[in-house]
Amino acid sequence: MNSDLVRADFPITDELIYLDSAAISLTPRQVVDAVSEYDLRYRANIGRGVHRLSVVATQRYLDAHDAIASFIGGGVGTTVMTKNTTEAIGIVASGLPWKKGDRVVTTALEHHSNLLPWLRLREIGVIVDIIMPDESGWVNPAAFEAAVTDETRLVAITHASNVLGTLLPISEIAGICHDHGAELLIDGAQSVPHIPMDVQEIGCDYLCFSGHKMLGPTGTGILWMREMIPEPLLIGGGSIDTSSLDGYTLAGDYRRYEGGTPPISGMIGLGRAVKYLESIGMKEVHRHDEQLTRRLLDGLSGIDGVVVPGLDNPGDRIGVISFMVEGIHPHDVAHILDEASGIMVRSGDHCCKPLMGHLNLPEGTVRASTYLYTTDEEIDLLLRTLEEIGRMVR
Ligand SMILES: Cc1ncc(COP(=O)(O)O)c(C=O)c1O
Repeated sequence: MNSDLVRADFPITDELIYLDSAAISLTPRQVVDAVSEYDLRYRANIGRGVHRLSVVATQRYLDAHDAIASFIGGGVGTTVMTKNTTEAIGIVASGLPWKKGDRVVTTALEHHSNLLPWLRLREIGVIVDIIMPDESGWVNPAAFEAAVTDETRLVAITHASNVLGTLLPISEIAGICHDHGAELLIDGAQSVPHIPMDVQEIGCDYLCFSGHKMLGPTGTGILWMREMIPEPLLIGGGSIDTSSLDGYTLAGDYRRYEGGTPPISGMIGLGRAVKYLESIGMKEVHRHDEQLTRRLLDGLSGIDGVVVPGLDNPGDRIGVISFMVEGIHPHDVAHILDEASGIMVRSGDHCCKPLMGHLNLPEGTVRASTYLYTTDEEIDLLLRTLEEIGRMVR
């Protein structure tokens, strides 16, 4: 990967150091151009008209759908556009035909978006079994052996923790699910942007992720499902094959779940983002992240007063690293990093309050997250600034 060429596509990298890609990534010129090309040159609704703009827009929308499906090996199955990961998970949680006594297995590592929808199912008699990570934030696959039973309908887990960056061994977990006839939903919000993903290889039943964390426009996300079991959240224009005053037949493909006009330019932009990532290669994106992560973790472990939760856990990692500076609130550290060195990081509980409670981190953490435009020099400046902050406190 040619770092200079990549960074030229993200002009803001000249002005500041962006280490908050786990919240929302930067977006390259090519994606911005694809979105504005739609708006300026062929803006029309899709699947509804026969005039030439409508035909072009529909084709580009379908091409984007195909590109995204192929990016995750999801040609078999259904790839649905949503507005984010939260909506994708919500479609499954509210759309499966739950019965009282069904069981869902999840973990205390989850982002609220992959926890609250399952907790809400308790109101209709679904039992939610929550696996607790150990003190390093690691969830051993053996815990799934114990938790998943023949009564488990669904296992819903994150692939990569948005706090610790740890990757869970999902293929192993998929095997355990299928031994018991349980379906597996993967929250891929953090993993899909960073590592090669193939739903067939993993053996999951649902994969949910967000476009805005992988160079795409905001308001874009994906739900991939092996079988169209969930009921759609919304139905209306575009959802059906036929309708009369007596009833309707829902479309036999993704349109069933995309009632109403979708964010057309967003999907086209996400299709372009996926092409951009493919042109670099996801193995290369992951290799780059791994190298930066090692550099950052090595550096952080050498700074007095800096504590890195989960440092010892055995999982592979993506470029998402949490840390604390003793004696300073994470929000203050984040402010100082911005003021002193123009470094943008996230601070707080990262929408993982139960995990923060479990790891005894009441004030949360500072989180630095890397991506393909991050450089060694940026990591080194972060480390130097943290050393200075540490000195200020002592
Ligand atoms: C692991 C994980 N799951 C779910 C989400 C929710 O994503 P969105 O806000 O795009 O719905 C996030 C967002 O940070 C995340 O990191």
